[in-house]
Amino acid sequence: MKINWTGFSKKTPLERQKLISSLLTEEKQTLLRDNKQLALKTADQMAEHVLGTFSLPFSIAPDFLIDNKIYHVPMVTEEPSVVAAASFAAKLIKRSGGFTTTIHNRLMIGQVALYDLKDKKIAEQIISSHKEQLLSHANEAHPSILKRGGGARNIWTEEKEEFLIVYLSVDTQEAMGANMLNTMLEAIAPILEEITAGKSLMAILSNYATESLVTAECSVDLRFLSRNIEEAQQLAQKMELATHLAQVDTYRAATHNKGIFNGIDAVVLATGNDWRAIEAAGHSYATQGGLYRGLSNWFYDRKKQQVHGKLTLPMPIATKGGSIGLNPTVQLAHELLNSPSAKELASVIVSVGLAQNFAALKALIGTGIQEGHMKLQAKSLLLLVGATEKEATILLPRLLKEKHRNQETAQELLIDLRNQK
Ligand code: HMG
Repeated sequence: MKINWTGFSKKTPLERQKLISSLLTEEKQTLLRDNKQLALKTADQMAEHVLGTFSLPFSIAPDFLIDNKIYHVPMVTEEPSVVAAASFAAKLIKRSGGFTTTIHNRLMIGQVALYDLKDKKIAEQIISSHKEQLLSHANEAHPSILKRGGGARNIWTEEKEEFLIVYLSVDTQEAMGANMLNTMLEAIAPILEEITAGKSLMAILSNYATESLVTAECSVDLRFLSRNIEEAQQLAQKMELATHLAQVDTYRAATHNKGIFNGIDAVVLATGNDWRAIEAAGHSYATQGGLYRGLSNWFYDRKKQQVHGKLTLPMPIATKGGSIGLNPTVQLAHELLNSPSAKELASVIVSVGLAQNFAALKALIGTGIQEGHMKLQAKSLLLLVGATEKEATILLPRLLKEKHRNQETAQELLIDLRNQK
């Protein structure tokens, strides 16, 4: 069923739930309606010393056109304006043709670090001649992945200072594969010690997932930067400059990338994935070439009168395993996305990162970030100083007119309102 998203942001959560109900099964609709949390018993199985559960807003950024398919993206974030920015960007990008993505590969990498080797060169030759045996030993340690079409794919070595590092790449199919990798690596470590007469310092997967790269690209027509063609052209040039700045200054690169991860983390969290792994992968990838750089690039295509954005990231995301099957809200998130495969989900997440980056840059080079961000932050400020929902609704337009939209002003406005009663 086609959903009319007009005015979606102005609706109440209950009205929004009704509008999107066709995307969910009855069971998941009830879950949303009753705002059911993760059961304490389940939570107690997921982590240790559990006292309770912890809630965050669960939102939707609708209508992302990615590889000619529409996705309504679940996002979990505590930060105002992130979901608004993603939704805004998705709308403009859809009208300009949507996102296209490329999955370069999808393998996880792990390593066994060997040391105390007499001759690293000879050890490398020995490992190379035992490659097939090592791969089949790795597969024997986790046979179920072979049935699913995955398994250990390659082994190679690199000398780094006193270490000879043995890398193993594995096709983990729909899983993120941390446990799978670690089991395989721990299984081959003793063999590596035996055949090289060296010692294994550790055997562990790497979050620098350079064999799980995904690229998202999109173009945005200049008319969406400004209705005034001259101003739009200036903004397009500034967009290009803004990404160049993130290439040459690490202070800016860190914030540029934080903006990208505003969107990425929100989807990673909603879909029950390990956001620390995704952050580690992204930030280590940003240091390629020795300098920490902005992960995205925007180019002003003067011929087509468009800005063209591109973001490449490691995205070792999963749709199975971990806590994905345990948390009902996570299952709901997968349902909203129409149960995508891991590759499809990776494409969605990198596209959201690019959308988020577009919205942030558009704001930064235009009116400035505070305008839009504070508009949405203002309500949180009012609630923070103790305003009721009703009071916050009355005070919001007043606070937005103030020069200093801070907690102090919010407090003053609330006192004034209550004194008027
Ligand atoms: P606007 O043009 O003032 O908003 O932008 P608008 O009221 O004209 O609405 C335009 C559209 O935005 C709406 O269309 C929605 O799609 C969306 P409509 O539905 O009305 O047809 N929108 C909303 N969606 C949901 N709830 C809302 C809402 N309001 C608008 N309440 C906007 C406002 C916030 C979108 C814009 O100013 C923006 O994108 N700003 C960037 C905000 C941002 O990036 N926030 C992240 C926090 S700041 C940060 O951490 C990152 C940063 O440091 C990264 C970096 O430096 O690169 C900036």
